[in-house]
Amino acid sequence: MDARPKSGPVLGIETSCDETAAAVVAPDRRILSNVVLSQLDEHRIYGGVVPEIAARAHLDHLDSVIAQAMSDANLGFPDLAGVAATGGPGLIGGVLVGATTAKAIAMVHNLAFMGINHLEGHALTARLTDGIEYPYLLLLVSGGHCQLLAVEGVGRYRRLGTTIDDAAGEAFDKTAKLMGLGYPGGPALERAAERGDATRFDLPRPMVGRPGCDFSFSGLKTAVRRRVEELGDGLDDQAKADLAASFQVAVAASLVDRSGRAIALFEAEHGTGRGFVVAGGVAANKALRAALAGLAERHGMVFVAPPLALCTDNAAMIAWAGQERLALGMVDGLDFRPRPRWPLDPEAARSIGAGAVKA
Ligand code: KG4
Ligand code: ZN
Repeated sequence: MDARPKSGPVLGIETSCDETAAAVVAPDRRILSNVVLSQLDEHRIYGGVVPEIAARAHLDHLDSVIAQAMSDANLGFPDLAGVAATGGPGLIGGVLVGATTAKAIAMVHNLAFMGINHLEGHALTARLTDGIEYPYLLLLVSGGHCQLLAVEGVGRYRRLGTTIDDAAGEAFDKTAKLMGLGYPGGPALERAAERGDATRFDLPRPMVGRPGCDFSFSGLKTAVRRRVEELGDGLDDQAKADLAASFQVAVAASLVDRSGRAIALFEAEHGTGRGFVVAGGVAANKALRAALAGLAERHGMVFVAPPLALCTDNAAMIAWAGQERLALGMVDGLDFRPRPRWPLDPEAARSIGAGAVKA
């Protein structure tokens, strides 16, 4: 007979990119611990995440990050009901480190193991933080993804739109880099934009007014590059700030337009008054959050944007997705195979956006 507890705290592990993270979450949504070790300094000199360096850093730090998460939660492994680890998509070296460690803990302590899709972690965060009910509309904007999804239940995600080129975070990162704003680009660009005049540069509003809910950011990035070239030596701090502000306004207009269309599709199926959730690292951007909150309000939708620390990569979201799956008996065997690519919507498997390294 299986003596495993059916319910209890779940340890989550996240190693799919450049954060080594572990967290413990209780079934009643309490976050008992949440440890995130960023590898930013290890990658900064390269201006981006180097997969081999990331995998080695995860290997070096994961055990102590897990020990910290368990000690913060004041628990031992036998107190857990399960262990959940990101099983993809992401940099496969790191994913292997996290998933293998999780399986070992599960095996030694006879705990349930759940291999979690990193995007599902982002998608379900609003249920962890706000207890929002299914179904809801999700705008997932991160370094590797830019998608609009109808979230109808655990494992039931329907993609309404995606990017045909760069992800939103990727656009922030690349644009910041070509403006010489440093790494990571998103927060640097937002800081610059705070001092900028968004009306100085007239940049294109990608996809606005087009049918469908897809995104595209490469044209906007190219437009910024052209302005940078035209400015030449005139690209002083003020010009950078103005360009950053103009870029941010263009991205906001695009996200609002595309989300507005998805809301119409979503409401036709699920009715009005549902939730509109924005998740992923780009959701940390205050100007974008405000624009999307305004959109939700105009549609009478409940707007949920998780707190910043739970928008960027973390393990609490993985532990929570593990809780939801454990409650439904959706556990995985120890033969679970980590996967570098893993679309949330199986229907979308053939048309994943380019550059989906970060999720
Ligand atoms: O979700 P996340 O932490 O990692 C994954 O991509 O999975 O998202 C990271 C992305 C990066 O592209 C980063 O530049 C962007 O989120 N980001 C931001 C901000 N903070 C992080 N983009 C715009 N404004 C921000 N404040
Ligand atoms: Zn992420």
